[in-house]
Amino acid sequence: MGTMSTERLISSSPASEIEDQTNWALRPQSLDEYIGQAELVERVLIAVQAVQARQEAKEEGEPREHLEHVLLHGPPGLGKTTLAHVIATELGTNLHVTSGPALARGTDLVAALTRLGPGDVLFIDEIHRLPIAVEEFIYPAMEDFRIDVCLDTGLNARTVQIKCAPFTLLGATTRAGLLSSPLRSRFGLVHHLKYYSDDDLMHIVRRSSGLLEMNTPADDALNTIASRSRGTPRIANRLLRRIRDYAQVRHDGEINTQIVNDALALEGIDQLGLDELDRAYLSTIYNIFNGGPAGLEAISATMNEDSGTLEDVVEPYLLQIGFLARTKRGRQITALGCQHLGLKPIHTDQTQSIF
Ligand SMILES: Nc1ncnc2c1ncn2[C@@H]1O[C@H](COP(=O)(O)OP(=O)(O)OP(=O)(O)O)[C@@H](O)[C@H]1O
Ligand SMILES: [Mg+2]
Repeated sequence: MGTMSTERLISSSPASEIEDQTNWALRPQSLDEYIGQAELVERVLIAVQAVQARQEAKEEGEPREHLEHVLLHGPPGLGKTTLAHVIATELGTNLHVTSGPALARGTDLVAALTRLGPGDVLFIDEIHRLPIAVEEFIYPAMEDFRIDVCLDTGLNARTVQIKCAPFTLLGATTRAGLLSSPLRSRFGLVHHLKYYSDDDLMHIVRRSSGLLEMNTPADDALNTIASRSRGTPRIANRLLRRIRDYAQVRHDGEINTQIVNDALALEGIDQLGLDELDRAYLSTIYNIFNGGPAGLEAISATMNEDSGTLEDVVEPYLLQIGFLARTKRGRQITALGCQHLGLKPIHTDQTQSIF
Protein backbone atom coordinates (compact mmCIF):
# COMPACT_ATOMS: atom_id res chain seq x y z
CA MET A 1 0.00 0.00 0.00
CA GLY A 2 3.04 2.21 0.40
CA THR A 3 2.91 3.46 -3.16
CA MET A 4 -0.81 3.96 -3.29
CA SER A 5 -0.72 7.62 -2.45
CA THR A 6 1.59 8.51 -5.31
CA GLU A 7 -0.78 6.96 -7.83
CA ARG A 8 -3.83 8.25 -6.11
CA LEU A 9 -6.46 9.86 -8.32
CA ILE A 10 -8.05 11.64 -5.40
CA SER A 11 -4.75 12.85 -3.96
CA SER A 12 -4.75 16.60 -3.79
CA SER A 13 -1.06 16.94 -4.51
CA PRO A 14 0.00 17.11 -8.15
CA ALA A 15 0.71 13.61 -9.48
CA SER A 16 3.26 14.51 -12.09
CA GLU A 17 4.93 17.24 -14.05
CA ILE A 18 2.56 16.61 -16.93
CA GLU A 19 -0.39 17.18 -14.64
CA ASP A 20 1.22 20.39 -13.44
CA GLN A 21 1.47 21.56 -17.04
CA THR A 22 -2.17 20.80 -17.81
CA ASN A 23 -3.12 22.51 -14.58
CA TRP A 24 -1.17 25.49 -15.72
CA ALA A 25 -3.57 25.92 -18.61
CA LEU A 26 -6.53 25.66 -16.24
CA ARG A 27 -5.18 28.20 -13.78
CA PRO A 28 -7.09 31.46 -13.37
CA GLN A 29 -4.97 34.39 -14.54
CA SER A 30 -6.65 37.25 -12.72
CA LEU A 31 -8.56 37.85 -9.52
CA ASP A 32 -11.94 37.88 -11.23
CA GLU A 33 -11.28 34.49 -12.80
CA TYR A 34 -10.46 33.12 -9.34
CA ILE A 35 -13.59 31.21 -8.32
CA GLY A 36 -14.76 30.92 -4.70
CA GLN A 37 -12.84 31.92 -1.51
CA ALA A 38 -14.88 35.12 -1.61
CA GLU A 39 -13.53 36.56 1.66
CA LEU A 40 -9.94 35.96 0.66
CA VAL A 41 -10.47 37.45 -2.79
CA GLU A 42 -12.04 40.53 -1.23
CA ARG A 43 -9.22 40.99 1.28
CA VAL A 44 -6.62 40.63 -1.46
CA LEU A 45 -8.48 42.98 -3.79
CA ILE A 46 -8.68 45.71 -1.14
CA ALA A 47 -5.00 45.33 -0.29
CA VAL A 48 -3.93 45.39 -3.95
CA GLN A 49 -6.08 48.41 -4.80
CA ALA A 50 -4.76 50.29 -1.78
CA VAL A 51 -1.18 49.65 -2.91
CA GLN A 52 -2.03 50.82 -6.41
CA ALA A 53 -3.68 53.99 -5.13
CA ARG A 54 -0.67 54.81 -2.93
CA GLN A 55 1.67 54.09 -5.82
CA GLU A 56 -0.22 56.47 -8.10
CA ALA A 57 -0.06 59.24 -5.51
CA LYS A 58 3.72 59.02 -5.49
CA GLU A 59 6.15 61.31 -7.23
CA GLU A 60 8.55 59.81 -9.70
CA GLY A 61 11.73 58.57 -8.05
CA GLU A 62 10.09 57.75 -4.72
CA PRO A 63 10.46 54.12 -3.60
CA ARG A 64 7.86 51.74 -4.97
CA GLU A 65 4.90 50.70 -2.81
CA HIS A 66 4.67 47.06 -1.88
CA LEU A 67 1.89 44.81 -0.66
CA GLU A 68 2.21 43.65 2.93
CA HIS A 69 3.38 40.07 3.45
CA VAL A 70 0.76 37.39 2.91
CA LEU A 71 0.52 33.94 4.51
CA LEU A 72 -1.84 31.39 3.00
CA HIS A 73 -2.52 28.12 4.72
CA GLY A 74 -4.85 25.23 4.07
CA PRO A 75 -4.96 21.73 2.60
CA PRO A 76 -3.16 21.03 -0.71
CA GLY A 77 -4.80 21.78 -4.05
CA LEU A 78 -7.01 24.68 -2.91
CA GLY A 79 -5.28 27.32 -5.01
CA LYS A 80 -2.44 28.85 -2.96
CA THR A 81 0.09 28.77 -5.81
CA THR A 82 -2.58 29.96 -8.21
CA LEU A 83 -3.35 32.93 -6.00
CA ALA A 84 0.35 33.84 -5.77
CA HIS A 85 0.49 34.17 -9.55
CA VAL A 86 -2.77 36.09 -9.62
CA ILE A 87 -1.57 38.56 -6.96
CA ALA A 88 1.66 39.29 -8.84
CA THR A 89 -0.32 39.79 -12.06
CA GLU A 90 -2.75 42.14 -10.34
CA LEU A 91 0.13 44.13 -8.86
CA GLY A 92 1.82 44.25 -12.24
CA THR A 93 5.05 42.90 -10.76
CA ASN A 94 7.09 39.72 -11.10
CA LEU A 95 6.61 36.52 -9.15
CA HIS A 96 9.66 34.61 -7.97
CA VAL A 97 8.92 31.07 -6.90
CA THR A 98 10.88 29.04 -4.37
CA SER A 99 10.17 26.74 -1.45
CA GLY A 100 11.21 26.16 2.15
CA PRO A 101 13.33 23.08 1.38
CA ALA A 102 15.02 24.84 -1.58
CA LEU A 103 16.29 27.57 0.75
CA ALA A 104 18.64 25.27 2.59
CA ARG A 105 21.25 27.88 3.56
CA GLY A 106 21.25 31.58 4.32
CA THR A 107 23.06 32.26 1.05
CA ASP A 108 20.18 30.70 -0.92
CA LEU A 109 17.86 33.23 0.63
CA VAL A 110 20.29 36.10 0.01
CA ALA A 111 20.45 35.05 -3.64
CA ALA A 112 16.66 34.94 -3.90
CA LEU A 113 16.17 38.30 -2.18
CA THR A 114 18.79 40.19 -4.17
CA ARG A 115 17.17 39.06 -7.43
CA LEU A 116 13.92 40.83 -6.53
CA GLY A 117 12.83 44.03 -8.22
CA PRO A 118 10.87 46.75 -6.38
CA GLY A 119 7.36 45.56 -5.48
CA ASP A 120 8.02 41.97 -6.66
CA VAL A 121 6.42 38.97 -4.98
CA LEU A 122 8.59 36.22 -3.50
CA PHE A 123 6.52 33.05 -3.18
CA ILE A 124 7.86 30.53 -0.66
CA ASP A 125 5.91 27.30 -0.86
CA GLU A 126 6.04 24.89 2.11
CA ILE A 127 7.34 27.75 4.22
CA HIS A 128 7.03 25.55 7.32
CA ARG A 129 10.05 23.65 6.02
CA LEU A 130 12.31 26.69 6.06
CA PRO A 131 15.40 25.84 8.18
CA ILE A 132 15.62 27.82 11.43
CA ALA A 133 19.01 29.27 10.45
CA VAL A 134 17.45 30.71 7.29
CA GLU A 135 14.43 31.99 9.15
CA GLU A 136 16.63 34.38 11.10
CA PHE A 137 17.81 36.02 7.88
CA ILE A 138 14.28 36.53 6.79
CA TYR A 139 13.11 38.66 9.73
CA PRO A 140 15.12 41.83 8.90
CA ALA A 141 14.36 41.23 5.22
CA MET A 142 10.64 41.24 5.92
CA GLU A 143 10.77 44.23 8.24
CA ASP A 144 13.40 46.55 6.82
CA PHE A 145 14.31 45.00 3.46
CA ARG A 146 17.85 44.33 4.53
CA ILE A 147 19.85 41.18 5.11
CA ASP A 148 22.46 40.97 7.84
CA VAL A 149 25.28 38.70 6.73
CA CYS A 150 27.85 37.70 9.29
CA LEU A 151 31.39 37.48 7.94
CA ASP A 152 34.28 35.75 9.68
CA THR A 153 34.21 34.38 13.20
CA GLY A 154 35.71 35.21 16.57
CA LEU A 155 37.58 38.51 16.84
CA ASN A 156 37.22 39.29 13.16
CA ALA A 157 33.48 38.75 13.10
CA ARG A 158 31.51 41.60 11.56
CA THR A 159 28.09 42.03 10.07
CA VAL A 160 27.52 43.36 6.60
CA GLN A 161 24.16 44.74 5.63
CA ILE A 162 22.82 44.07 2.17
CA LYS A 163 19.79 46.03 1.01
CA CYS A 164 17.05 44.41 -1.02
CA ALA A 165 14.14 45.98 -2.88
CA PRO A 166 10.85 46.41 -1.01
CA PHE A 167 9.02 43.19 -1.81
CA THR A 168 6.08 41.06 -0.72
CA LEU A 169 6.71 37.71 0.85
CA LEU A 170 3.93 35.29 0.06
CA GLY A 171 4.21 32.18 2.18
CA ALA A 172 2.14 29.05 1.63
CA THR A 173 1.83 26.09 3.95
CA THR A 174 -0.36 23.10 4.61
CA ARG A 175 0.76 23.15 8.25
CA ALA A 176 0.34 26.58 9.77
CA GLY A 177 0.81 25.00 13.18
CA LEU A 178 4.45 24.26 12.41
CA LEU A 179 5.32 27.90 11.75
CA SER A 180 7.24 29.67 14.52
CA SER A 181 5.30 32.52 16.05
CA PRO A 182 7.94 35.20 15.29
CA LEU A 183 7.68 34.29 11.61
CA ARG A 184 3.91 34.12 11.65
CA SER A 185 3.56 37.47 13.34
CA ARG A 186 5.49 39.20 10.55
CA PHE A 187 2.77 38.56 8.01
CA GLY A 188 0.19 41.32 7.60
CA LEU A 189 -2.46 39.28 5.86
CA VAL A 190 -2.98 35.73 7.10
CA HIS A 191 -5.68 33.63 5.54
CA HIS A 192 -6.86 30.06 5.88
CA LEU A 193 -8.18 28.63 2.61
CA LYS A 194 -11.37 26.69 3.05
CA TYR A 195 -12.68 23.75 1.08
CA TYR A 196 -14.76 24.90 -1.91
CA SER A 197 -18.54 24.54 -2.03
CA ASP A 198 -20.09 22.25 -4.65
CA ASP A 199 -21.40 25.35 -6.42
CA ASP A 200 -17.90 26.82 -6.74
CA LEU A 201 -16.54 23.48 -7.91
CA MET A 202 -19.27 23.28 -10.57
CA HIS A 203 -18.11 26.65 -11.88
CA ILE A 204 -14.53 25.50 -11.90
CA VAL A 205 -15.32 22.27 -13.75
CA ARG A 206 -17.52 24.11 -16.25
CA ARG A 207 -14.73 26.59 -16.93
CA SER A 208 -12.12 23.83 -17.22
CA SER A 209 -14.24 21.81 -19.66
CA GLY A 210 -14.32 24.88 -21.90
CA LEU A 211 -10.54 25.28 -21.66
CA LEU A 212 -10.04 21.57 -22.38
CA GLU A 213 -12.24 21.95 -25.47
CA MET A 214 -14.52 19.11 -24.48
CA ASN A 215 -18.33 18.91 -24.39
CA THR A 216 -19.48 20.80 -21.32
CA PRO A 217 -21.34 18.28 -19.13
CA ALA A 218 -24.96 19.11 -18.19
CA ASP A 219 -25.58 20.58 -14.72
CA ASP A 220 -26.46 17.30 -13.02
CA ALA A 221 -23.26 15.67 -14.32
CA LEU A 222 -21.23 18.73 -13.27
CA ASN A 223 -22.81 18.51 -9.86
CA THR A 224 -21.85 14.85 -9.54
CA ILE A 225 -18.24 15.67 -10.37
CA ALA A 226 -18.26 18.59 -7.90
CA SER A 227 -19.69 16.54 -5.06
CA ARG A 228 -16.94 13.95 -5.44
CA SER A 229 -14.05 16.38 -5.53
CA ARG A 230 -13.67 16.77 -1.75
CA GLY A 231 -13.94 20.52 -1.96
CA THR A 232 -10.66 20.69 -3.91
CA PRO A 233 -10.22 22.31 -7.35
CA ARG A 234 -7.14 20.25 -8.20
CA ILE A 235 -9.13 17.05 -7.64
CA ALA A 236 -12.13 18.40 -9.59
CA ASN A 237 -9.89 19.09 -12.59
CA ARG A 238 -8.25 15.70 -12.29
CA LEU A 239 -11.58 13.87 -12.15
CA LEU A 240 -12.75 15.86 -15.16
CA ARG A 241 -9.75 14.68 -17.18
CA ARG A 242 -10.32 11.03 -16.24
CA ILE A 243 -13.98 11.37 -17.16
CA ARG A 244 -13.09 13.01 -20.45
CA ASP A 245 -10.82 10.08 -21.36
CA TYR A 246 -13.45 7.54 -20.34
CA ALA A 247 -16.18 9.34 -22.28
CA GLN A 248 -13.98 9.64 -25.36
CA VAL A 249 -13.06 5.96 -25.44
CA ARG A 250 -16.39 4.46 -24.44
CA HIS A 251 -19.08 7.01 -25.36
CA ASP A 252 -17.85 9.13 -28.25
CA GLY A 253 -17.22 12.03 -25.89
CA GLU A 254 -20.74 12.20 -24.47
CA ILE A 255 -20.87 12.95 -20.74
CA ASN A 256 -23.91 12.47 -18.52
CA THR A 257 -24.39 11.57 -14.87
CA GLN A 258 -24.39 7.83 -15.57
CA ILE A 259 -21.15 8.07 -17.50
CA VAL A 260 -19.58 10.17 -14.72
CA ASN A 261 -20.65 7.55 -12.16
CA ASP A 262 -19.28 4.69 -14.26
CA ALA A 263 -15.98 6.45 -14.88
CA LEU A 264 -15.48 7.21 -11.18
CA ALA A 265 -16.57 3.73 -10.07
CA LEU A 266 -13.81 2.38 -12.29
CA GLU A 267 -11.37 4.54 -10.33
CA GLY A 268 -12.63 3.30 -6.96
CA ILE A 269 -14.09 6.66 -5.97
CA ASP A 270 -17.27 6.50 -3.94
CA GLN A 271 -20.28 8.81 -3.59
CA LEU A 272 -18.45 11.21 -1.29
CA GLY A 273 -15.23 11.23 -3.29
CA LEU A 274 -13.41 8.92 -0.89
CA ASP A 275 -10.96 6.50 -2.47
CA GLU A 276 -9.27 3.29 -1.37
CA LEU A 277 -6.68 5.04 0.77
CA ASP A 278 -9.35 6.92 2.73
CA ARG A 279 -11.34 3.77 3.26
CA ALA A 280 -8.21 1.80 4.18
CA TYR A 281 -7.35 4.49 6.74
CA LEU A 282 -10.80 4.38 8.32
CA SER A 283 -10.95 0.57 8.34
CA THR A 284 -7.50 0.39 9.92
CA ILE A 285 -8.71 2.51 12.84
CA TYR A 286 -11.88 0.42 13.05
CA ASN A 287 -10.43 -3.06 12.68
CA ILE A 288 -6.95 -2.80 14.18
CA PHE A 289 -7.48 -0.11 16.81
CA ASN A 290 -11.03 -0.96 17.71
CA GLY A 291 -12.26 2.38 16.40
CA GLY A 292 -9.58 4.39 18.19
CA PRO A 293 -8.41 6.57 19.72
CA ALA A 294 -5.13 5.68 18.05
CA GLY A 295 -1.96 7.67 17.45
CA LEU A 296 -1.16 8.80 13.91
CA GLU A 297 2.26 7.14 14.00
CA ALA A 298 0.73 3.79 14.98
CA ILE A 299 -1.86 4.02 12.21
CA SER A 300 0.71 5.01 9.61
CA ALA A 301 3.06 2.19 10.66
CA THR A 302 0.23 -0.34 10.45
CA MET A 303 -0.77 0.87 7.00
CA ASN A 304 2.84 1.26 5.86
CA GLU A 305 1.90 4.72 4.67
CA ASP A 306 3.73 7.99 5.24
CA SER A 307 2.29 9.82 8.25
CA GLY A 308 2.72 13.20 6.56
CA THR A 309 0.58 12.04 3.64
CA LEU A 310 -2.09 10.83 6.01
CA GLU A 311 -2.04 14.08 7.95
CA ASP A 312 -2.01 16.44 4.94
CA VAL A 313 -4.03 14.56 2.37
CA VAL A 314 -6.30 12.03 4.05
CA GLU A 315 -7.25 13.44 7.42
CA PRO A 316 -8.34 17.02 6.70
CA TYR A 317 -11.27 15.98 4.54
CA LEU A 318 -12.34 13.13 6.81
CA LEU A 319 -12.34 15.61 9.70
CA GLN A 320 -14.29 18.11 7.63
CA ILE A 321 -17.08 15.65 6.80
CA GLY A 322 -17.19 14.36 10.37
CA PHE A 323 -15.92 10.83 9.73
CA LEU A 324 -12.92 11.29 11.96
CA ALA A 325 -12.38 12.94 15.32
CA ARG A 326 -9.02 14.09 16.63
CA THR A 327 -8.98 13.79 20.38
CA LYS A 328 -6.25 14.32 22.98
CA ARG A 329 -5.57 10.59 22.91
CA GLY A 330 -5.53 10.17 19.14
CA ARG A 331 -7.66 9.59 16.06
CA GLN A 332 -11.08 8.06 16.35
CA ILE A 333 -13.61 6.96 13.75
CA THR A 334 -17.04 8.54 14.29
CA ALA A 335 -20.45 6.89 14.03
CA LEU A 336 -20.93 8.66 10.68
CA GLY A 337 -17.67 7.22 9.40
CA CYS A 338 -18.68 3.71 10.45
CA GLN A 339 -22.03 4.16 8.78
CA HIS A 340 -20.40 5.12 5.49
CA LEU A 341 -18.30 1.96 5.54
CA GLY A 342 -21.37 -0.10 6.43
CA LEU A 343 -19.95 -0.98 9.85
CA LYS A 344 -21.56 -1.02 13.30
CA PRO A 345 -20.58 2.13 15.22
CA ILE A 346 -18.15 1.54 18.06
CA HIS A 347 -18.45 4.87 19.81
CA THR A 348 -22.00 6.10 20.11
CA ASP A 349 -21.18 9.17 22.17
CA GLN A 350 -19.21 11.46 19.89
CA THR A 351 -15.98 12.56 21.49
CA GLN A 352 -15.56 16.28 21.10
CA SER A 353 -12.86 17.04 18.59
CA ILE A 354 -10.33 19.40 20.10
CA PHE A 355 -8.91 20.65 16.77
N1 LIG B 1 -10.08 29.51 -7.24
C1 LIG B 1 -9.85 28.72 -8.27
N2 LIG B 1 -10.58 28.83 -9.39
C2 LIG B 1 -10.34 28.00 -10.42
N3 LIG B 1 -9.41 27.03 -10.45
C3 LIG B 1 -8.66 26.87 -9.37
C4 LIG B 1 -8.82 27.71 -8.23
N4 LIG B 1 -7.94 27.33 -7.30
C5 LIG B 1 -7.24 26.32 -7.82
N5 LIG B 1 -7.67 26.03 -9.06
C6 LIG B 1 -7.16 24.94 -9.91
O1 LIG B 1 -6.61 23.96 -9.05
C7 LIG B 1 -5.26 23.66 -9.40
C8 LIG B 1 -4.45 23.52 -8.12
O2 LIG B 1 -4.28 24.76 -7.49
P1 LIG B 1 -2.89 25.18 -6.83
O3 LIG B 1 -1.76 24.52 -7.51
O4 LIG B 1 -2.88 26.66 -6.78
O5 LIG B 1 -3.07 24.60 -5.38
P2 LIG B 1 -2.17 24.78 -4.08
O6 LIG B 1 -3.06 25.25 -3.00
O7 LIG B 1 -0.97 25.59 -4.40
O8 LIG B 1 -1.75 23.32 -3.73
P3 LIG B 1 -0.41 22.77 -3.04
O9 LIG B 1 -0.60 23.00 -1.60
O10 LIG B 1 -0.45 21.31 -3.39
O11 LIG B 1 0.74 23.49 -3.63
C9 LIG B 1 -4.81 24.82 -10.29
O12 LIG B 1 -4.00 24.36 -11.33
C10 LIG B 1 -6.10 25.39 -10.86
O13 LIG B 1 -6.37 24.82 -12.11
MG1 LIG C 1 1.07 24.88 -4.65
